[in-house]
Amino acid sequence: MKNLISIKDLSIEEIEKIFSLANEIKKKPHKFSRYLKGKSFALIFHKPSLRTRVSFETGIFQLGAKAVYLEEEIGFSKREPVKDIARVLSRYVDGVIIRTFSHQLLLDFAKYSTAAVINALTDSFHPCQVLSDLWTIREKKGELRKVKIAYVGDGNNVCNSLIYGCLKTKANLRIATPAGYEPRISIPAQNLEIRIMNDPEEAVKDADIIYTDVWTSMGEEGREDRKEIFQNFQVSKRLVNYAKPDCLIMHCLPAHRGEEITDEVIEGRNSIVFEQAENRLYVQKAILISLDIL
Ligand code: CP
Ligand code: NVA
Repeated sequence: MKNLISIKDLSIEEIEKIFSLANEIKKKPHKFSRYLKGKSFALIFHKPSLRTRVSFETGIFQLGAKAVYLEEEIGFSKREPVKDIARVLSRYVDGVIIRTFSHQLLLDFAKYSTAAVINALTDSFHPCQVLSDLWTIREKKGELRKVKIAYVGDGNNVCNSLIYGCLKTKANLRIATPAGYEPRISIPAQNLEIRIMNDPEEAVKDADIIYTDVWTSMGEEGREDRKEIFQNFQVSKRLVNYAKPDCLIMHCLPAHRGEEITDEVIEGRNSIVFEQAENRLYVQKAILISLDIL
């Protein structure tokens, strides 16, 4: 795999390889401790991050490689153009991990980079998150094509990546968003496994997994009316009761308790949000090992 820009670009074989590597890494982390010895990775983050940054930095260290976190002062597209930064960094490091606003900017960077480029979240996609989440779902529930996932909330970057992830792995996905907040990914007409609707109760009916994310993503702040628009889309005990009794609750975090999810549900016994966060480490190590840089 040259880059990880979107799950859309991955073959099912590449996804399976990441999943099986992640299984092995979780079981025998020490086996991989020198796997990327001598390699280095630059991290460029234009939005805050706890999980993605720390799991990448730690994962890189655990694979024997070096992470270089680049602060704001590199002046991405201000001090010098993106295409120059990409060509310079490519001469020093083996991979660049980028979290930014515009997905186009990431594509522009990748066009000029000979180092591998990993999308650590853009306004459009969050592929590392969703690969890890699908791996978590498989770990908990078995074969993805037999699993019913309900995503409730905003049709955002996580939701977009979930669509591509479910298209590839053939998991059943129902998405409930308020009208006007649907994801803007076109789903092939022949695909019957993915449905987008505006009724959260219908979406979660008999679900094995309920997944939610913030109503306001990073960069979209300042719209107080969202709380009112999304109020019927809160993952509450009442909503969870429409799902299967053993339905698991997922959230990519950070969570806004009292908005997209209640405290009772996120702290409840069916919630796997912290294991979900932990698994980012294993799957991202598997992603790094899958890059064509060895
Ligand atoms: N879920 C996730 O990507 O978290 P961070 O924004 O903290 O990296
Ligand atoms: N949709 C959220 C995900 C955070 C990990 C955001 O973009 O802010």
